[in-house]
Formats: sequence, C-alpha cells, structure tokens
Amino acid sequence: MTSREAPLPAGAFIAPGYEVVGLLNRNWAYEVYDVWSAERDCRCVAKTVRADRLDDHLVTRLLREGRLLQRMTHPHLVRAYETIKTPVPVVILETLNGPTLAAILDDQPRRMPVSDLALLGLHLCSAMHYLHGRGFLHLDLKPSNVINSGGVAKVLDLSIARPPGRQRPGIGTRGYLAPEQARGGEVTAATDVWGIGITLFEAATGALPFDGYDTDDEHDEEYPGDAHRYPQLEHAPRSVGALRRLPRPFTEAINACLAFDPSARPSVPQLADALDSLLPLEPGEAAHQLRAPDSGPPRKIRGVPPSHLAAEWSDGSAPGEGGSDREEASVA
Ligand SMILES: Nc1ncnc2c1ncn2[C@@H]1O[C@H](COP(=O)(O)OP(=O)(O)OP(=O)(O)O)[C@@H](O)[C@H]1O
Ligand SMILES: [Mg+2]
Repeated sequence: MTSREAPLPAGAFIAPGYEVVGLLNRNWAYEVYDVWSAERDCRCVAKTVRADRLDDHLVTRLLREGRLLQRMTHPHLVRAYETIKTPVPVVILETLNGPTLAAILDDQPRRMPVSDLALLGLHLCSAMHYLHGRGFLHLDLKPSNVINSGGVAKVLDLSIARPPGRQRPGIGTRGYLAPEQARGGEVTAATDVWGIGITLFEAATGALPFDGYDTDDEHDEEYPGDAHRYPQLEHAPRSVGALRRLPRPFTEAINACLAFDPSARPSVPQLADALDSLLPLEPGEAAHQLRAPDSGPPRKIRGVPPSHLAAEWSDGSAPGEGGSDREEASVA
C-alpha cells in the first residue's frame, strides 16, 4: 500500500515540471492525467502506472510505449514528448483536444454518416500502414483508443504494440480481440485489419459483432486465455449489414476485415482503397490527383477530406473516465 493509491490531486507534481490539472482516465493498470507544463507553457497528458500496480512488467510496458511513440511521427498517431523513468515512470503526450470515438458513440444518438466512417477508416489505415512499416503492430484498436481531434482521427495507446510474431492468448481488449489474439498465435498486420474492422463496425452500428460483449465491459483480470469466454472463437461475426443499411462496398469491406482466417482479410492498402472509393468527390478534385512519373494512371490522394466532413464527426465532448477490460501484455 502506498500513499498514491488514490489518484493525484490537482496541483500535485506527477514529475518535475508537470503539475496535475485533473485525472482523465484510470483503469486497472494506468492513470492518465491532464497536466500543465510550465516549460512548454501548455497542457499535456501524462500517463503513469497506478501506484498500487507498480511492478516491473507494467513499468517496462509503459516506458516501452513512451519510447516507441517518441519515435513515431504521423498525423494519425498521438505524439509523445518525453519518457520519464524516475522517480515515477511517466510518459508525456501531446494533448489531443476532442472526444474519443467511444465518447462520441455514447453521446450521439445520430448514426455516423458513411463518408465520416470511410474517412475514419482511412485515417486508421494510414496510421497502421505507418506503424507496420516501422515494424510494429498496434493490437488494441478500439473506439476508446481513437480521438477525434478536429475531424482528424488520432490513434492512442501503444501499450501492447509489438512486432509481428507469436503471442500468448487473451492479450488485448476482450471484446475486440481477433481470433488469433483470443486463442493465442501468430499476430500479423491482419490482426490490426481486424481491429480497424471492429472499430468501424462499432462506429457504424454502436454495437459489437458478437453477442455476449458489452461495449462498456469493465476490465476483468481473471480471464486469461479462457476460450469459452471468446465468442469470436465459437462462431462467425454477424454481418454489419444486419444492423444497418450501408453501401454494399462498405458492408463487404467491414465484413472482410472480420474474417476468422487472417489471410482472408484485406491488406491495409486494399482496405484503404475500398474505403477511399466511398468518399464523395469534391468539386475540382481532379486537381488533387497525383501522378508519379512512371506509375501509370493518375491516382487520387487518398483520404483528402472533403472540407465539410471535418466538423461532421466531432461533437465537442471531452474524453471521459472509463474502465478497461484489457488484459495485460507480455513483455516482448
Ligand atoms: N494524448 C491524449 N490526449 C487526450 N486524452 C488522452 C490522451 N491519451 C489518453 N487520453 C485519454 O485517456 C484514455 C486512456 O488512455 P490510454 O488508452 O493511453 O490508456 P490505457 O490505460 O492504456 O487505456 P485502456 O486500457 O482503457 O485502453 C483515453 O481513452 C483518452 O480518453
Ligand atoms: Mg486505451
């Protein structure tokens, strides 16, 4: 037991130079704080391990997340400024102003238009394409790990990111796990394609593709590898088309992402192409065509957002506190 079992109060310093403004999120392992940096003269976000969970495994995982994010520079991935090891491990992130996709889905009765869904999917594809190119998989794509920052999707939370390879069962967030994550096995880029697909499924319908999961499921630490608790290993997901009438290419793209067999899923670029074709053309969009010298026909710049879309999927609400049902990752 330590004096830091309760979250830090406003005014406390979580690390030298970082004063707590408030708690943003607390789950079984981590606390995320809104902090003030006098040096930068701006708000930042500080992610730390809960004091009552301070063990080598979680500390290593947090420090690894911070160092990995510091090396990543991409418009659809959150930026990390600093990774502090002592006295308490803390990762300092840029503050993303905007609601998580989970908060948007909770608060908005109106269903997200298809063009917004396609744009969201393209942003996720873009982030995953980059991350995969740097040798890492995200493995925890879900609405609470995506923030809508002024119409631009930003992916958060690389805490279980790792290179492709074999993984033990149940690592990730229970209701969102690809079958190969649930049963344990080889995780690849196709595992994140599942993650994009399930995130879009929920964004489109407000529901998950399998019964038996609540999208607000609390974290449960007692479920490692318990096969009977994974409907995704028992039966095929329902079609997104069963819950919402959508353009057929969109329905097909999402359903394909949720194929049981990873090799039957589209690649990230194939998925991006399918989603791109669903974006409306803007007047004069031909001016946005790219033509590389010897690459054949002109190519549209993927995901150039029609200007009206930026405001569309923003509702201005703040990221909320929330539980998590994520199982802990092994240290790679
Ligand atoms: N850079 C940021 N800007 C604004 N809010 C953030 C930022 N990073 C995290 N948050 C908020 O904190 C929440 C938790 O952050 P994160 O997902 O990194 O932590 P976690 O403990 O690994 O979460 P979980 O296990 O619930 O997925 C996010 O869902 C979001 O609401
Ligand atoms: Mg998260």
